[in-house]
Amino acid sequence: MSSFDEVEKMLLEPQARSFKLAPSDLDPQHLPDMNLHKGGRLTFLLALSQRGAGGDGMHEAFRSAFEDYLTHSKETKARLKDDVTKGLVEDLKKEFKAKGGLTDEFLADSDGGLLDYLLKYLHYVLFGIDPKDEEKIEVINGLHYDSSSAPYYLNLLGNVLQGIKYKDWTDQMRAVVKIYEESPALKDFKTQSKYNNMTRAELANLALSIMSLAGMVGPKTLANNILGKSGLPAYEGENTGDINVIDKLKELDMTDRDELLKYIHECGRLRNPVSNSHKVAQEDFTIPINGKERTFPAGTIIYIPMQLGSLDKRFWGETAFEFDHERPNLCPFSMIFHSVGEKTNGRICPGKEVAETMLVDALVAIGSELKQDAS
Ligand code: HEM
Repeated sequence: MSSFDEVEKMLLEPQARSFKLAPSDLDPQHLPDMNLHKGGRLTFLLALSQRGAGGDGMHEAFRSAFEDYLTHSKETKARLKDDVTKGLVEDLKKEFKAKGGLTDEFLADSDGGLLDYLLKYLHYVLFGIDPKDEEKIEVINGLHYDSSSAPYYLNLLGNVLQGIKYKDWTDQMRAVVKIYEESPALKDFKTQSKYNNMTRAELANLALSIMSLAGMVGPKTLANNILGKSGLPAYEGENTGDINVIDKLKELDMTDRDELLKYIHECGRLRNPVSNSHKVAQEDFTIPINGKERTFPAGTIIYIPMQLGSLDKRFWGETAFEFDHERPNLCPFSMIFHSVGEKTNGRICPGKEVAETMLVDALVAIGSELKQDAS
């Protein structure tokens, strides 16, 4: 169940869901809106089944609210190109020079450099939160970076870390939810039947969980890949681990946004930022394992291995493990955003356009400096 064709099929049909993020188990009691508002209903998109796979329409309704107010609003699309965003890109360029290029200080210090850029860019473009509002940015930075918000949602680990290390997690989360609720994007949110009567508080809590588990983690993971921090995996019998992506980057025209986007997708194909997703089997199914037919019951969790589909030689050819950002039809078949290019079952990452634009902006900003280093 790991060929390109099989992964493609699973990405394009409705999915029933459980409480999982990639291979990790999530804690239902920590998911919105079950945590900060006790007795609330589940709004966490990744754990909601779709219509056609046992879902009751909640996924579709809540996702529409998320898209209409955050990822796909006309205000978000305008902010992606406005002067405030351009200022953040300029700041990144200055930080890159000041911190000596692709150093740990530039890549991993949350008080400036890359991480500061990702946090301010996403919160400005998606929510309209002023990146110069130091008070708010400090609260948001404190939760997402200093207190590492993502593990709060994980089963067992969330409770353990809350008990021993992040005792004020929920206080910090309430403070960030308040900032999100009052942000330009959400302050005028209207409860409507098409959103299944979702309230503004529910949407802000959903947004917090999404920023914690997807919004901050996905871009950081992919940025670390395209900026050479994580390196490519040393797949058995292949030379992928020896590829230096920065050498490839330096060969590109750093003003050509299409070429840079292909570079990002090729890095992501060789090392998927999110290696797999999942679905819950709706009926019993039988598959051959080691030459024997094995039957599994309905309710079995089936992984959807985007990483394996991205490396299948039958689809990508003999060069599947090599770097070639010019390979034909790379972006239309990229699986890194839980889709096949733009083809989707309605579960494509809604942050795709913002994340892609933000990362291309970053490469353009540092590109001329990288080229100078190379010459
Ligand atoms: C490079 C950056 C990103 C990558 C590679 C990425 C990748 C993914 C993947 C693979 C999924 C599917 C996960 C699953 O269903 O198990 C997903 C879902 C999702 N992502 Fe992203 N993501 C990125 C950035 C973002 C950002 C910035 C946002 C913020 C709005 C976001 C919001 C979401 C949401 C809301 C879902 C759930 C969609 C649904 O189930 O309907 N992502 N993303």
